Amino acid sequence: MKILDQELEASSTISYAGLIEKIEILRSTLRWASRLERPDIEKLLRQAGALRDEVMQLSHKERFVKAAAAEPTRAALSRRQRRQGLIERSFVFEGAFGENPKLLEALEIAEKAAPTGLPVLIDGESGTGKELMAKVVHANGDRADRPFISVNCGAIPENLLESELFGHRRGSFTGASTDRKGKFESAHTGTIFLDEIGELPLTGQVKLLRVLEAHEIQRVGSDELIAVDARVVAATNRNLRRLCEEGKFREDLFYRLSVIHLSLPPLRERRDEIPLLFQFIGDEAAEALKRRPIEMTRRLRAFLLDYAYPGNIRELRNIIYRLSCLAGQTADVEHLPADIRPAPPVRGAATAAPDGDDKAVGAAAFSEAKRVASDQAEREFLERGLQEVGGVVTELARRCDMNRSHLQSLLKKHGIRSKDSRHANASRRDELA
Ligand SMILES: Nc1ncnc2c1ncn2[C@@H]1O[C@H](COP(=O)(O)OP(=O)(O)OP(=O)(O)O)[C@@H](O)[C@H]1O
Ligand SMILES: [Mg+2]
Repeated sequence: MKILDQELEASSTISYAGLIEKIEILRSTLRWASRLERPDIEKLLRQAGALRDEVMQLSHKERFVKAAAAEPTRAALSRRQRRQGLIERSFVFEGAFGENPKLLEALEIAEKAAPTGLPVLIDGESGTGKELMAKVVHANGDRADRPFISVNCGAIPENLLESELFGHRRGSFTGASTDRKGKFESAHTGTIFLDEIGELPLTGQVKLLRVLEAHEIQRVGSDELIAVDARVVAATNRNLRRLCEEGKFREDLFYRLSVIHLSLPPLRERRDEIPLLFQFIGDEAAEALKRRPIEMTRRLRAFLLDYAYPGNIRELRNIIYRLSCLAGQTADVEHLPADIRPAPPVRGAATAAPDGDDKAVGAAAFSEAKRVASDQAEREFLERGLQEVGGVVTELARRCDMNRSHLQSLLKKHGIRSKDSRHANASRRDELA
């Protein structure tokens, strides 16, 4: 039997009809196969992998179109047209979402730079999407199906740097028990992503510069020169110009790396996009966690719209995934990570320590205020939780990772009636059984 020679490569325009056709080709290949040898199986697996990637891309694209269609405003129109232009030109976003002019500018530069093979330097604060943008550059160029090798320059000890980047020969240093390829060789014909380039020590900078100039490397302990053709994309959250002025980064390397320079805006400079990001990432999280997208209470939404996001999109993304995992249908502030959660309003405190009372600021008044606030937060949490699980105590106990009978006693303390309490006798029989 013959497996199709033509690989199922990602076509420039993906459509459901195109995907179904490719699935049919795979099915008929399998249907007519009298026997499959290992290379045939490998080929079929590669074809199935390519199909899966296309489905993922289509789903990202759909999510983007859906989210972008929501809440259109007049001012957003030209941004939307720019984004639409990228979509129509079959730009691969790799999940990068947003219409902020600075982000669009970065995407448009990436689009132009991608096919050229020129070095690209990406800067931006932590979590602004530098690695994602490096993948965008890779995915839109003609090396898209070649390796994308990521190196964190800040995480490699200085004495291992050369071996990590360029490889080594067996016996060249203690511990080098076999010949080993470096990252540059692995990235041959593809892209090498030099993350946290600002952390590269000066000795490493000299060696990197030589490779960028000569396009060849030498493994540690070897005289042989090996030609490498790796497209370089570097990223940093530091100000490389300033590092150059301070003598900590070589200026010649800076100019070599930054032929194309992309800057990613922090989330606080694109706050208008936060609602769209909620929707986009919320849908993505729902898909990943196989659940319905969460809704947010007004209180939570107001908090998140106002929050500073020092960790930028990564932090926003993590928060949305956390909410999607922990909340039932509706998420509220108590589902936020404890270190950013706003303090609950101390409504009952006024009753506990009325104005004008001499003891209002005394130790007893303080602990009473804390008790009242804690009771109130507990009651609100239980009421909302019970509502979200349709009144089923067992389910709420499971979600809160709490003993069921302890939860029952808390509900009793607050006088909250659950579905189970209406069938108290039956549940007691269950517990005894
Ligand atoms: N425009 C965007 N749209 C959707 N998701 C994004 C966007 N930008 C970044 N993300 C997501 O945010 C997270 C952080 O992105 P990434 O790792 O690329 O940031 P980074 O700038 O490299 O961060 P660091 O400096 O900490 O390494 C990832 O999950 C990424 O998918
Ligand atoms: Mg990164």
